[in-house]
Amino acid sequence: MPIMEPYRIKVVEPIPITTRAHRERALAAAGYNPFNLAAEDVTIDLLSDSGTGALSAEQQSAGLRGDETYAGARSYYRFRDVVSELTGYPHAFPVHQGRAAERILFTALLKPGQLSVSNTHFDTTRANVEILGGKAVDLPCRAAKDLDDDAPFKGDIDLDALEAVLSGPEDVALVLITITNNGGGGQPVSMANIKAAGELARRHGVPFFLDAARFAENAWLVTQREPGYAGRTPREVAREAFDLADGCVASLKKDAIVHMGGLLAVRDPALAEKCELLLIATEGFRTYGGLAGRDLEMLAQGLLEVTEPAYLRARAESTAYLADLAAQAGVDSVRPTGVHAVYLNAGRLLTHLPPGRFPGFALATELYLAGGIRCAELGSLYLGELDEAGELLKPAPYELVRLAIPRRVYTQSHLEYVAETLAGIAKDPGRVPGYRLTHAPKLLRHFNCRLEPA
Ligand code: F0G
Repeated sequence: MPIMEPYRIKVVEPIPITTRAHRERALAAAGYNPFNLAAEDVTIDLLSDSGTGALSAEQQSAGLRGDETYAGARSYYRFRDVVSELTGYPHAFPVHQGRAAERILFTALLKPGQLSVSNTHFDTTRANVEILGGKAVDLPCRAAKDLDDDAPFKGDIDLDALEAVLSGPEDVALVLITITNNGGGGQPVSMANIKAAGELARRHGVPFFLDAARFAENAWLVTQREPGYAGRTPREVAREAFDLADGCVASLKKDAIVHMGGLLAVRDPALAEKCELLLIATEGFRTYGGLAGRDLEMLAQGLLEVTEPAYLRARAESTAYLADLAAQAGVDSVRPTGVHAVYLNAGRLLTHLPPGRFPGFALATELYLAGGIRCAELGSLYLGELDEAGELLKPAPYELVRLAIPRRVYTQSHLEYVAETLAGIAKDPGRVPGYRLTHAPKLLRHFNCRLEPA
């Protein structure tokens, strides 16, 4: 069956079509760091699926109805009602984006020296734990380590390892399950795993939270892959996941299909009170949390649209289509394909480049030079250990490139263009040069580093 997007295009925006010479100049001026490129130099932007989605006509009109009253705006109540119907959590706070929710929740829950235990913390989540003096422990399941394993739920947390940490000597402040697991190849987490992890946490008296940035995409994959869930709607499955936890943090820039927004929701009234104080002190009053009324309206509408099965099916199929075209061209990606991104296995394609010449980065750079496609490396440049001179001491376990797909933005032809560009590179991968760092800041390296061809 062909991919059938259940929407049509009403407003269009031109995208820059550039020459290779232009891209070579732009990239050299950017110190070869794609984060330094201007949008006008990028043809297809697969850097992130966060805040990059296309609004629906209903979201735009809801935005116009936004109520900008300081306290108690109509738009807040609409947001609260939609969140409460979706999650069942009695205390829901809007925040400006996901990391604000993380900071507030961890400040309220975590004492210095305590652990936050997760399937995989997203990088801002880990940073927020560490800034507060905590330790972020990732316990991905065993199947996650094999990129080619077609196991359906490679986002699961390792339950034996979780039990060992919970029974061990260290003090655990919370267990946090990221759905889907962005840091782990965008793989989904099964309901059975969420349930079992929640039971373990509860047995040890530890709060159990979801990082629900891609809750709808996780729910979709559950309906497709988990026994017993085939007949359920993504919305029912999402609700069941929320029911299993004590609350959630969520970047709503993903599965609420808006440009800005986040959510912190909890059950416990005492925790809610602590969070509310921090919210008011740092984000905004409890009925707007750093967002405008129009944002709250668009969020509420987006949260209704995102669980539509026809939308989720088309999105999952178009991501799988891109992964299949890449595979036909000889470029492997993390299996099985998730929904928000294709994670290309650059290490396997560019075998002539050692990790210290950053094969993931080299492939991402080549996609830009060859086709104006921007994407992010997830390999030794981002995760490896470097010495003072920027040479690699310890490589990352994998050399990946993430092609993150914005929601409702690119058509099948755009994805075919990406695949064709990739196929052109894969014809003669030995020609792709490696890179060396010329500037490697200690913190947030991937945003600010500069490189040159080696
Ligand atoms: N949690 C997950 C799983 C995420 O993927 C992100 C952001 C955040 C939290 C933080 O949310 O950006 O709203 O503050 N991920 C983006 C990405 C940036 O490209 O994957 P935020």
